[in-house]
Amino acid sequence: MILHKRGRILRATPAIRSMVAETIITPSDFIAPLFIDEGENLATEISSMPGYFRRSLDLTIKEVEELWSIGIKSVLLFIKCKDELKDNTGLESWNPRGLMQRSIKAIKAAVPGMYIMTDVALDPFSSYGHDGIVKDNEIINDETVEALVKMSVSHAAAGADMVAPSDMMDGRIGAIREALEDNGYTKTGIMAYSAKYASCFYGPFRDALDSAPGFGDKKTYQMDYSNRLEAVREALMDVEEGADIVMVKPGLPYLDIVREVKNAVDVPVSVYNISGEYAMIKAAAQRGWIDENKAIMETLTSIKRAGGDLIATYFAKDAARLINQ
Ligand code: PBG
Repeated sequence: MILHKRGRILRATPAIRSMVAETIITPSDFIAPLFIDEGENLATEISSMPGYFRRSLDLTIKEVEELWSIGIKSVLLFIKCKDELKDNTGLESWNPRGLMQRSIKAIKAAVPGMYIMTDVALDPFSSYGHDGIVKDNEIINDETVEALVKMSVSHAAAGADMVAPSDMMDGRIGAIREALEDNGYTKTGIMAYSAKYASCFYGPFRDALDSAPGFGDKKTYQMDYSNRLEAVREALMDVEEGADIVMVKPGLPYLDIVREVKNAVDVPVSVYNISGEYAMIKAAAQRGWIDENKAIMETLTSIKRAGGDLIATYFAKDAARLINQ
């Protein structure tokens, strides 16, 4: 056989494979989501996320120190709100002494270099478990945006580097940007969850924060998974309104969307490798059906290859360790 092209030449040894690798993941690609709870010396494993914990602030700080030491540059904070503080206004979410605000300050003080991103949405604070204010069984947009603005400004005041609105209300990016400017927070960034789909894969996360919707679903604000062009439209709108980074979420079932958005915008694209994606790998690995470490590396590389510049992932620590080995 005489061939003029042999594709296997560039696959022959580990050396040549690493020389021609098009996609390389590094710990600074990762954003580590953290679930924070009240209390002390508390680490609760989330039943549907084996190996992942909700921690009190003291233990969260230890975790952040460890993440920093292995090269992770960013954390994304979520807090679990006590039931008695939940209501239909989100009031607790902009409490200057709230758990989120205290956490931002304490983490900044302990690990000043760590880039702190904060979740902005009402669901952990909502007695209805929805991302917005509820009236007559509907999630109302404009009043919700006012609450999100207050929440964002309070995160900036506490020292957050970037707020990350995950609520999918209309017009919130522009409103938040304007409020940050008005209040002098000109260094605070916005990572917009621009194309966030109504997904069944969020289940384990809602276990972690006890934030499952009390009625109905989130389909009137999160996107329909049948749609692709709409994701581009949402991302472009958010960039126009002032987003520094746009996000696609979930990750794996939406890699086509990641590429589409990546080609359309001129800001970094982040991807959320969400709780259900974590749970699936964990569950299969526990049964011995797949090799967990290999699945982690293949998954995260595929997300970056699709166009994810940054990846929010519960595997951040494991992946950083595997990369550093
Ligand atoms: C809610 C929010 C969700 C996630 C991040 N922010 C869940 C939801 O929209 O119900 C999901 C993250 C994950 O599943 O890992 N604002």
